Amino acid sequence: MTRRRIGILTSGGDCAGLNAAIRAAVHRAHILGWEIIGILNGTAGLLKDPPGYRVLSANEFSGDMLRMGGTILGTTNKGNPFSFPMADGSTKDLSGKIIDGFKALGLDAVIGIGGDGSFAILKKLAERGHINLVGIPKTIDNDIGMTESSIGFDTAVAVATEALDRLQPTAASHDRVMILEVMGRDAGHIALSAGIAGGADIILIPEVRYSLESIAKKIKSMKDSGRNFALMVVSEAVQTPEGEKMVMTYSGGETRYGGVGHFLGAKISEMTGSETRVTILGHVQRGSPPTYNDRLLASAFGVKAVDLIKEGKFGRMVAWQNRQVVDVAIDDAVRAYQVVDLNGTLVQTARALGISLGD
Ligand code: F6P
Repeated sequence: MTRRRIGILTSGGDCAGLNAAIRAAVHRAHILGWEIIGILNGTAGLLKDPPGYRVLSANEFSGDMLRMGGTILGTTNKGNPFSFPMADGSTKDLSGKIIDGFKALGLDAVIGIGGDGSFAILKKLAERGHINLVGIPKTIDNDIGMTESSIGFDTAVAVATEALDRLQPTAASHDRVMILEVMGRDAGHIALSAGIAGGADIILIPEVRYSLESIAKKIKSMKDSGRNFALMVVSEAVQTPEGEKMVMTYSGGETRYGGVGHFLGAKISEMTGSETRVTILGHVQRGSPPTYNDRLLASAFGVKAVDLIKEGKFGRMVAWQNRQVVDVAIDDAVRAYQVVDLNGTLVQTARALGISLGD
């Protein structure tokens, strides 16, 4: 086998398990006798002259990497290189510069660890620049198609479930309706899974249209049957009944979902007379050491990604299907955006348990 030089980068929002995937790819590459370098800060590292990278040596990979949250390579979830925001407010196509950066590093192939947005960009760059690309799916939102699970999802669900474990006793002590707002962008996977695992009474996800009356009815019936508290999980992309998206604006005018929990808290209090409290879990869902499931997934994905390069299979994303690691076309995965299946087992389980989905 000829010696190869491969690059690896993390792109989009971070999550738990990224370092475990990098570690696995590095170990596998070294076992094959290849060189592997880490590109810093996603594609942003390639806009630097010279490109920002570090050689990933076998020595630096102790057991720590498996446990560490975040990404040692850094990442970015802004600045689409095809319409890059410039300081004067205009946008510019910097894709050529990024492709030049890839070329300058003399790479035989690149492993991109990202979500659907990153994959769409990386795939386009790879096609234009004739770059051999392999993808590893990661996102706490678990919305990438063709894979049952993406790195980071399991940990985010574990964190949200633990939050419910901590909210339940205080809710019961104070006779309150506790509302937990979780991330997930336009898919309700985190809310649904954590809600069932954490014993929520009401779970609101963007895929199911709710009514305030239905939520109030559920809370009242729980009160009537002697329950003095209620736990509710709401996914950040759930809208108001009038269809308004709740967003927060950050520096530079960037918006992100956030705040629907407070909207619902006020309405529920008004309609039921219950005292409500709201917890917005936020980035805590992304930052902890990965669960064992995320470590396993990341390890299997890291190894498979390097092996795909060995087999000369490019434009592929590693995926988890039927308890196996497989590979699928990146294009297919991006196209098959995965929201919650309303006929699926988890929705059926929630309903069968008497959990209200607000409809
Ligand atoms: O896509 C991952 C995610 O954590 C979403 O669940 C959330 O809406 C968003 O990223 C937050 O983005 P940022 O880190 O830019 O605030």
